[in-house]
Amino acid sequence: MRGLLNKAFTPRMIDNLRNRIQTLVDEILEGVQGKGLMDIMADLAIPLPGVVISDMLGVPEEDRPQFKKWSDVIFVGLTESDSTGTQAQRFAISQKSFSELSDYFRGVVERLRGHPQDNLLSAVVEAEEAGDKLTQEELFANCVLLMFTGQETTTNLIGNGTLALLQDPKQMQMLQNDGELIGSTMEELLRFDSPVQKFGRVATADIEIGGKTIKAGELVFLCFGSANRDPEQFSNPDQLDIMRSDNRHVAFAHGIHYCLGASLARLEGQITLGSLLERMPDFRM
Ligand code: HEM
Repeated sequence: MRGLLNKAFTPRMIDNLRNRIQTLVDEILEGVQGKGLMDIMADLAIPLPGVVISDMLGVPEEDRPQFKKWSDVIFVGLTESDSTGTQAQRFAISQKSFSELSDYFRGVVERLRGHPQDNLLSAVVEAEEAGDKLTQEELFANCVLLMFTGQETTTNLIGNGTLALLQDPKQMQMLQNDGELIGSTMEELLRFDSPVQKFGRVATADIEIGGKTIKAGELVFLCFGSANRDPEQFSNPDQLDIMRSDNRHVAFAHGIHYCLGASLARLEGQITLGSLLERMPDFRM
């Protein structure tokens, strides 16, 4: 399944998105620039990744408000961050949204079958038609997966990243003086305040790690945020250093579940931060 999705994340596909992301960021910044102030989260970090992933999944603009509602409801059902009702009640509500969303994707997929478009979902549909094994349910489940993985993560990168730079004016000035540093800056922001702090794993067999035995069936959390501040791996780990070399962070995890959207996330982050600093050289908190 991963191989199938990966086909849709080709470098060409990502590169095609470059202009689209730049246009979106320019539009947002033009909209706020005259006002002299903005809310980074509400104006930029939250809407941008949502529009990008909607584009990739072929969700037209007029359907986006409903799409966002479904995804918010499902998100609340899947996490325990909301305190209204019991978890079972929340889950039931989110199940309803999930099936409505699946029906919605069913319609999108049917439309794409006759008229392929240059987007991720269309590529997945084509791959499926070419004989790769993916049931309809798996196809919809993957749409929902992408919808989540692509949004809050990138929102966090833009929000936390901007904050980290604003809190360290010396580093921000260095980046403003030399735009070429945007690549290493992005890696350092991913390390310094990792957008995904932790993720669960269930051991499939007994295993010993660092002198501790984890039994088959036990849940463990991989704390990416902590690993990215490991003093054995990074010198001066609590210091933001946009020129850090050999920055082997694990913000996108490692191994077989390495983030499929890493290059897209990097692109969104680079274009957003680069454009902010270029257009607003006096940008401050
Ligand atoms: C800064 C932004 C992002 C960060 C920090 C991030 C981080 C991660 C991490 C840590 C994992 C591994 C989870 C695990 O260990 O099980 C992961 C998996 C994944 N990510 Fe991302 N992600 C980001 C953006 C995106 C975007 C934009 C997309 C797609 C549009 C995406 C799609 C995925 C998918 C499909 C997986 C599952 C891969 C698998 O289980 O094989 N991510 N991501």
